[in-house]
Amino acid sequence: MTEIQEHLLKRPRAAGSKSDGSSSGAPEISSGDITKLAEQRTGIADDPGTPALSKAIAVTPHDLPPQSETREAPFILAAQARKKMPMWAMFLLGFVPLWAVSFGGTMQLPDVEDALFAEAAEIYSGSGGCAGCHGAGGAGTTVGYQLSDGSVVATFPNLVDQMVHVSRGSDAIKGQAYGALWGDARRVAGTRGQMPAASTLTQIELELVVFHERVVLSGEDVSSDEWSEYIADLRARVEAGEGQSPISEEFVELLLACADPEITPEATGEGVINSEGESLCPGPHLAEE
Ligand code: HEC
Repeated sequence: MTEIQEHLLKRPRAAGSKSDGSSSGAPEISSGDITKLAEQRTGIADDPGTPALSKAIAVTPHDLPPQSETREAPFILAAQARKKMPMWAMFLLGFVPLWAVSFGGTMQLPDVEDALFAEAAEIYSGSGGCAGCHGAGGAGTTVGYQLSDGSVVATFPNLVDQMVHVSRGSDAIKGQAYGALWGDARRVAGTRGQMPAASTLTQIELELVVFHERVVLSGEDVSSDEWSEYIADLRARVEAGEGQSPISEEFVELLLACADPEITPEATGEGVINSEGESLCPGPHLAEE
């Protein structure tokens, strides 16, 4: 994935706010200058009888050579002077569309300003340290498997199985098969090396990083209603500051009750529900659950 750098995001915004104000970095012209210029070029000061508006309407300043006898009203001259585009604005005009095209081409982040996506990406590349072994875009390295382009979704059709794997790491199930079939075989933990248990992450960070790997890096289809509900719920919990406890053994137990025994060693698949019968398992739930 293309990493989105903060300064790239901020520039267009800064430009937008600047161009609203009149002190935009364009050369400052005092009203005295304008009057002088207007007098020199139009002789308007000597001709107070002509209404300024009729002069303004009569001329088309851009079509006429500067040496013409055109009488330009001071406000037109002022407008022309103001129109000069500063260098930074010209740079932005060329740069922003280019950035949008190159970024759009990667189709990695649906909404770059979305705080949820930004936070999830930050855990993957920053605090969670996953990018170091799996690559910034999840393409894999000589150390960790590829996660991008559907890979991690192929290994873990359901998000909760991936949460178990990341939270307890590969050593906990060393030598055991896990995941769905890749061709006619399943992955065996430890074949490639060691996937460290994500013990430094909080529960919500685990959920977010798994979300990033699946949705952003691996392109999981999130167009269903269940996914929309899950994303809204995740967003609400992040905003409310929930899930701040570190990943505990009890939490892994809960995930194991949610996970699929055919995918995840030691999973029970029993599910976990609250008193209202709602599933407490993280992830998109089918309507009837
Ligand atoms: C020190 C390097 C390293 C770091 C850091 C790391 N991983 Fe891994 N990861 C691995 C290795 C190596 C494997 C394969 C282990 C094996 O052979 O069982 C793996 C496997 C995985 C898998 C299973 C993929 C599959 O298709 O089987 C997932 C998912 C995963 N890592 C996610 C993460 C996440 C999320 C993070 C950050 C919280 C992370 N990894 C951090 C090295 C790392």
